[in-house]
Amino acid sequence: MTIVIRGGSVVSTSGATPADVVVDGERIAAILDPDSTMAESVQTSADRVIDASGCYVLPGGVDAHVHLELEMTPDATSADTFATGTAAAAWGGTTTVIDFAGQTAGTHVRDAIEARHADADGQCAIDYGFHLAMGDIHDASLAEMEAVMQEGITSFKYFMAYPGAWYSDDGKLLRAMQRAAELGSMVMMHAENGIAIDVLRDQAAAAGQTAPIWHGRTRPSRLEGEAVHRAAALAEIAGTPLYIVHLSSSDALDQVRFARDRGQNVFAETCPQYLYLTLDEHLDQPGRDGLTAICSPPLRDHTHHADLWHGLRRDELAVVATDHCPFCDNEKLLGADDFRATPNGLGSIEHRMDLLHTGVVEGEIGLARWVEVCSTTPARLFGLYPRKGVIAPGSDADIVVYDPAAQHTLGVASHHMNVDNSVWEGVQVTGQVRTVLSRGSFVIDERTFSGRAGHGRFVERQVSDLFV
Ligand code: URP
Ligand code: ZN
Ligand code: ZN
Repeated sequence: MTIVIRGGSVVSTSGATPADVVVDGERIAAILDPDSTMAESVQTSADRVIDASGCYVLPGGVDAHVHLELEMTPDATSADTFATGTAAAAWGGTTTVIDFAGQTAGTHVRDAIEARHADADGQCAIDYGFHLAMGDIHDASLAEMEAVMQEGITSFKYFMAYPGAWYSDDGKLLRAMQRAAELGSMVMMHAENGIAIDVLRDQAAAAGQTAPIWHGRTRPSRLEGEAVHRAAALAEIAGTPLYIVHLSSSDALDQVRFARDRGQNVFAETCPQYLYLTLDEHLDQPGRDGLTAICSPPLRDHTHHADLWHGLRRDELAVVATDHCPFCDNEKLLGADDFRATPNGLGSIEHRMDLLHTGVVEGEIGLARWVEVCSTTPARLFGLYPRKGVIAPGSDADIVVYDPAAQHTLGVASHHMNVDNSVWEGVQVTGQVRTVLSRGSFVIDERTFSGRAGHGRFVERQVSDLFV
């Protein structure tokens, strides 16, 4: 099937240009001057012409951090399945997600990866990849990293938080980083000082301070900054690139800047919730509303937002991902009497592109930067480029036709995520997906879902082209 996307403005990391895009099968075949005779003639022979007048034509979004059907505890599994979460992602203009296979204490890396493939296989509406989250670092699991990379899982997440579950001490982290350096893989870090945080959490609970706000008060940003500093120091010693996930605070950003100024390959991702939502307005609410806003790191106060937007403009923050991990009310309410029992995480997989485009409209970032942080740079950092993350001949035809003027309101009544709450309830955004192609197949067609579970394929990733 050949498709011509006619009359739109193609947006790349260098700006917007009027151009027609020709898709042949699963790939982009050509980008044409709309006034050329070639553009005229291709249009007449195409199987389908999409009128993109007044719209942007974007490389599909790459969400480098999602948790679909993640069993966080025996009583709490994140609400979106691979089927519902990837469909919701497409509704929001994302055409590739990277989830996690998770190796917990006492389990084998191989089993974790096979189980995750079994969860996702045949379910996804868009392409997907995996990172490996390692919760048990020892000789055998370090040895397995090489085989994991050969299967296209080229990035590894470690945890300075969650003692007793995913946490690794500095010695283990250093060993994992040394191994990653040998293999040329990417180290991702959940950077919060979990040991100190657990002391604060237990002290708060012992004093009867069990409301949702105490989740935030016991995870101060200073302990995020401290962990980023320590992670960067270990990465420097090991000689590995480092990617800080879900960075939430000015303190943490300061430490990323410090490491980058030393010349280190330290990159960081923030998430829409840390750019827009606050501790006071969202977490400091009784009952369900406060519990819904519990995520780790926690929401911060307004003073951090301006710094994070600034960090995005200056490339100190390289990526915006969602850390999509929502739980339905019945599971969030497990923490009704004690915030420590609430599963951490909230949902944004559908809203990332619109929230960040709203940042463009409000002058926080430029149009080219929007595409860079939501699509091109995550593709590059995680070994998907130039297959994904760019509109160029030969690249996968993962393309979004985006109406920059459409205004809409986010919330449970209109979203497609499989969750009965939303931290984004009532938030107004500017910009909306009109049509989405995944490898040349329509997933959203003029705001009608036309995708199917099983279209999305597992993507074997290379290593980043940004530091090889
Ligand atoms: O609260 C969060 N972030 N939940 C997902 C798990 C993680 O640490 O990324
Ligand atoms: Zn994390
Ligand atoms: Zn996460």
